[in-house]
Amino acid sequence: MINLSYPVCTLDNKQVLPSGCELSPGVMNSIRAPQEETRKTQSLLRHAAIDQDLREFLQIYPYNVIFGDKTDMAGLYAHMGAVYLSPPVCETLDYFKINDYYTYRHIITVFALTTLISRDLLDDHEKCIAASATGPTHDIGKICVPLSILRKTSPLTPEERLLLQHHAPAGYALLQYYNCDAFAAEVALNHHERRDGSGYPLGSSEIDQMVEIVAACDVYDALISVRPYRKECFDNRTALEEITVMAEENKIGWDVVKVLIANNRSNKPHYSEVVVSREKRGKKPVHNCYGHTAVKNEAKTGNS
Ligand SMILES: [Fe+2]
Ligand SMILES: [Fe+2]
Repeated sequence: MINLSYPVCTLDNKQVLPSGCELSPGVMNSIRAPQEETRKTQSLLRHAAIDQDLREFLQIYPYNVIFGDKTDMAGLYAHMGAVYLSPPVCETLDYFKINDYYTYRHIITVFALTTLISRDLLDDHEKCIAASATGPTHDIGKICVPLSILRKTSPLTPEERLLLQHHAPAGYALLQYYNCDAFAAEVALNHHERRDGSGYPLGSSEIDQMVEIVAACDVYDALISVRPYRKECFDNRTALEEITVMAEENKIGWDVVKVLIANNRSNKPHYSEVVVSREKRGKKPVHNCYGHTAVKNEAKTGNS
């Protein structure tokens, strides 16, 4: 069972759960917002400029290859257009767009990538829609993380890392509060868990395949993006090698790796035909604070 290390609050500063609260089924059932606040849902693609922004993001390499000629974009947009969310959930994207553009872009590209990958890996149409719907909400808990931490360019202190990791249980609680799909809440909670038990918040090794699809898309997009803590991104080859290493270390399964590689090829082979190269010839970015911990005096003078 998870105990919250920090409170969970909405964007309008309503406390959903206090620090120290246990995320039990009883507590989860008790926090649901009044239906009238969340019943009216809308297609996320029709919210603000999300459709237009998404189309722009997908024109940038390597997404222009991944979503290239042979991709059924009409079918993909139909899937994404079928994702309906309540207004306060859609508004979290407006918040990120204004305050943390990286997270905004990340959430939208993970939405598209998750939709693409789930169409390849899952046969069931309903499951594909459900998996697709988890992309836009997987990091919703970051509204509970101070912007100074999300934007920090130097290593996090242990306390700051705990606060960042709070986004997983916070997202779970927020999505329950907003009466979202139970599976979306599960993805928000578990998308940083790994098969070898090295993830968080629980260190669980039992990962649902649909959760793992989001987890792999999440890591891949993070690697190929410039982040506050890393001015230079991983080049695409090195990013795919990093994802391959995760499968070699049994952190994620091979199927999601193969689907990502298959979609990176212009001829779009079926993922089962992909033979993954184990050769590592990529070059990682030199300046990368990710995973580094700030020492005490750095924390005092840090730029957060
Ligand atoms: Fe996350
Ligand atoms: Fe993420």
